[in-house]
Amino acid sequence: QQTTPKYRIGFSQCTGNDDWRRNMLVEMKRELFYHPEMQLLYKDAQDDSKRQIAQIRELLAAKMDILLVSPNEAVPLAPIIAEVYHRGIPVIILDRKAATDSFTAYIGGDNYNIGKLAAEYIAGQLGGKGRIIEVTGLRGSSPTIERHQGLHDALTKYPALQVSGVLEGNWVAGKTQEAAARQEAAIRQANVVFAQNDVMAYSMYRYCEAKGLSGIKFIGVDASPYPNAGIDLVSRRILSASLLYPSGGKEAISMAADILAGKKVPRNTLLQTVLIDSSNVKLMRLQIDKIQAQHQEIEQQQSLLQEQRLLYQDQQHLLRIVVTT
Ligand code: FRU
Repeated sequence: QQTTPKYRIGFSQCTGNDDWRRNMLVEMKRELFYHPEMQLLYKDAQDDSKRQIAQIRELLAAKMDILLVSPNEAVPLAPIIAEVYHRGIPVIILDRKAATDSFTAYIGGDNYNIGKLAAEYIAGQLGGKGRIIEVTGLRGSSPTIERHQGLHDALTKYPALQVSGVLEGNWVAGKTQEAAARQEAAIRQANVVFAQNDVMAYSMYRYCEAKGLSGIKFIGVDASPYPNAGIDLVSRRILSASLLYPSGGKEAISMAADILAGKKVPRNTLLQTVLIDSSNVKLMRLQIDKIQAQHQEIEQQQSLLQEQRLLYQDQQHLLRIVVTT
């Protein structure tokens, strides 16, 4: 028998326009296969905090049973998130934090550790000496602050390693190129570019390539499994390394199911990271390919099952007609 959805899961995403968030949605949809009682109401705020607030209001009007939200910026989104929570609707915050305590649970990657691991890797690569250009995300979003803090705290151990320029790339390629054009002199002197995501790292690579600058290493964050995203760029040696930033999509859906079933859930779930470089990228790729193949198989079986269900329903219907006539 077909299950009709019983719960509406509101998902307010700060932007849907990049590989990392595309992957988050894919992971959510896969997990939703196991939860036919849940229906996803998805909103994409396209990097705009005001739009995101308006969209959360739309989700309220649509009577969502739970809110999943990845806030574009921590401060502007805080009041609406608190309002949803105080109306008695559970709230799971994903990846980017909000400047409020009014939420049920937070799930996200260990951003501070990402910054720290990047610093250690750079120190190893440069023998503890050299110049780093740091490319940061959107100023008001929490991973920007935490990745920056982790990097700088770890660098205090290496006095001969200095951050010789900070570029605000706002998480996106276009802004990164604009910021790069304003700091070309510093970039020319740099040994390493550490960008807070792979999109900005790749953008910096292309900028330097176009300017004929060589000998600079590029490091990013995310390691998403798509062409021209992190894993692919590390395989092609365009990036020296990328720090895996798990999306938490699967965890968010299964936690939502637990909350709706009245189970207690942890307040903070920190997802672990790992540095991917030429030494382990092949293994990573193999694992990803294997998981994707398994998921495809599951999806095929699901649709076969669905066909069988429909066929069975049709036959039952026919049988009833035959019996009653
Ligand atoms: C995607 C993204 C990722 C980054 C994360 C930080 O929109 O910019 O690249 O790791 O958001 O919140």
